[in-house]
Amino acid sequence: MTAMLSVQDLSVEFGRGARRVRAVRGVSFDVAAGETLGLVGESGSGKSTLGRAVLQLIQASGGSVRFEGRELIGLSQAQMRPLRRQVQMVFQDPSLNPRQRAGDMLAEVLSTHGLHPGAARAPRIAELLQLVGLKPEHASRFSHEFSGGQKQRLGIARALAAEPRFIVADEPLSALDMSIQAQIVNLLIRLRQQLGLTLLFISHDLDVVQYLCDRVVVLYLGRVMEIAPTGALFDKPAHPYTQALLAAAPIPDPGQAAPQVSLHGDPPSPLNPPSGCVFRTRCPHALAACAEQVPELSALPDGRWVACLRHTELHTELK
Ligand SMILES: Nc1ncnc2c1ncn2[C@@H]1O[C@H](COP(=O)(O)OP(=O)(O)OP(=O)(O)O)[C@@H](O)[C@H]1O
Ligand SMILES: [Mg+2]
Repeated sequence: MTAMLSVQDLSVEFGRGARRVRAVRGVSFDVAAGETLGLVGESGSGKSTLGRAVLQLIQASGGSVRFEGRELIGLSQAQMRPLRRQVQMVFQDPSLNPRQRAGDMLAEVLSTHGLHPGAARAPRIAELLQLVGLKPEHASRFSHEFSGGQKQRLGIARALAAEPRFIVADEPLSALDMSIQAQIVNLLIRLRQQLGLTLLFISHDLDVVQYLCDRVVVLYLGRVMEIAPTGALFDKPAHPYTQALLAAAPIPDPGQAAPQVSLHGDPPSPLNPPSGCVFRTRCPHALAACAEQVPELSALPDGRWVACLRHTELHTELK
């Protein structure tokens, strides 16, 4: 597997002293070229922070992010500029300027990156609109005239205008109606194939993650609990937290056995996370040792990684 993006021991902190939030703690993963990697975890687990830190939209407090072998952490704005084009973000709310025409917004991105100047600009704008399922004549519309789904298509077109190779999509569906969500998922699948995109897909929606992603990273309180191929993760979650997360999701098949693990209450405050394994205070399998030791990510034979002191016995029990 050749990694397009390689994240090593990445940490992000906000605030200082007693108000210090360790939003992302020692996170490592790779994203292979062409892969769609899912990023899941409860609200506040650090998904958006991680996505933004990967793209250098916020500053990491430690670690390494390499894009095609090149270290991004520590690059100046000027050094980052040529790379900025290749790594783009799609947000839950595309935050379009309501007083700007769609075509002008895309023209602005093209001009920022020096792409398709002069007479080539208008045809490129038409092409971008068509690429996301809009019409060339939509170029003259103001963004407030678009529906929610169309706005998200425009948000995607804005990211694509830069001709990125890697996209972080942060909950791109969660503001949309169910029927529109399916359309945007299908759009992402088509674009991924047509443009050979590599995606980091952040979502609460485990069904969509299962449908769209090749592998999944599970975050809890800023730490990676498990990284697994999608099939393995949903078939047989290895980490007690992944088990609880999947069990908390609605069960499509009512005949399925009741979940053994469930999540009660809220996660502890990131201002004062538990010692050792951050999940131990909600984990039904926790031992005294779990408070002492931060579990390392260990490789399982089926291509997954799990950070749990008891992974060997618990994983065997599951078989
Ligand atoms: N700018 C900030 N200043 C201070 N704390 C922040 C900031 N941004 C995020 N945090 C904190 O960092 C932690 C991780 O937040 P983040 O938004 O990354 O979580 P998330 O997994 O994306 O959550 P959600 O699913 O709700 O989007 C939270 O405790 C949050 O309160
Ligand atoms: Mg978020």
